[in-house]
Amino acid sequence: MEAQRIFAIETSCDETSVALLDVQWDRRLVLPASVRLVKHAVSSQIAIHAKYGGVVPEVAARSHVPEAVSLITKALGKHPLDAFDAIAVTKGPGLATALRVGIQSAQTLAWLSGLGRKSDKPVIGVNHLEGHLASAWLLPENRRRWKFPILALLVSGGHTEVVLMRDYCDYEILGTTRDDAAGEAFDKSAKLLGLGYPGGPMISKLGASGDPKAFDLPRPMLHDASLDMSFSGLKTAIRLTADGLRLTAAHTVRPSAISRKLLADLCASIEQAIVDVLIVKTIRAAKKHPVKAIALVGGVSANKRLRDQLSDAVKKDLPGVQMLKAPLKFSTDNAAMIAAAGAWRIHHGDTHDWRGMDAEPELDLG
Ligand code: KG4
Ligand code: ZN
Repeated sequence: MEAQRIFAIETSCDETSVALLDVQWDRRLVLPASVRLVKHAVSSQIAIHAKYGGVVPEVAARSHVPEAVSLITKALGKHPLDAFDAIAVTKGPGLATALRVGIQSAQTLAWLSGLGRKSDKPVIGVNHLEGHLASAWLLPENRRRWKFPILALLVSGGHTEVVLMRDYCDYEILGTTRDDAAGEAFDKSAKLLGLGYPGGPMISKLGASGDPKAFDLPRPMLHDASLDMSFSGLKTAIRLTADGLRLTAAHTVRPSAISRKLLADLCASIEQAIVDVLIVKTIRAAKKHPVKAIALVGGVSANKRLRDQLSDAVKKDLPGVQMLKAPLKFSTDNAAMIAAAGAWRIHHGDTHDWRGMDAEPELDLG
């Protein structure tokens, strides 16, 4: 048995988060014998950025500093250097200066951990996207059904990717967005409708009671044979729809000017247009590349319409294929998923030198 307590730090965007995760691998098995989240804290900056209508990188980086110090000291307690065996920290993709807050915290802990000892504790630089992939694995029920190959639909604020996971740490991107990410499409649509930031949860809340067929919005590249997607055209269509309803003031819809019913219908139609594209491309990918399971991860995986409809589509079109959804509490950014991906990397035998580590804002999977 190989037991490890991993301390993880996530600061790639607007959430400061830390986690302590115990993972015990049984060397003969692909699955770990036990995974236990000992500590987890997430501090969101949403309220800070909401007034700007989106994340302001410099403000995000500065806000991470006091939060990181507070969360790290609370999580590690009185004997911080005895509290973990290894550190996992998000190295990218994300906002460079925000990522550096987490990386420099990890570097400081690693340096201190080596003082007076034979060696420093290892630091693993984790790809944030691999963290999202690992978020589904944090649920025991998903781990029991975890069999490769897995096809993951990774939908976040910055990324929309259909990923073939052949094994831990062995990925191929089969399809991606050519412009806006799915989360970005939600956020930009919401901004256009004057609904605030972040847009996904707001559109989803308002759209819950709406008619998803009320407005005929485009589903770009739906019939295109490739597994790529495109969401930028949706903004124009929403603007035109709103113009047509004579509801816009300087290209921003005044929510007060729309009846609740119309707004609910428009939000439901926006959601459905995005969800349709994501589902068609995921099912198409799974038909081309037979897999044992479909994983749904990333911030947008919190969307109920997407969760329910993708599960239904998998049941109907991919019999025998398991559905592995990220638990809601690990859908949006968090350090528990970074610890889990760190555990995969340690198990895989990766070693990193913390001295040369720096942010990799454009890092991708694969
Ligand atoms: O994964 P995440 O927390 O951050 C990135 O790595 O980007 O994803 C944030 C994105 C935002 O665009 C947000 O609007 C979207 O996830 N989101 C949702 C929902 N909850 C969060 N989108 C649709 N429906 C939701 N319920
Ligand atoms: Zn994320």
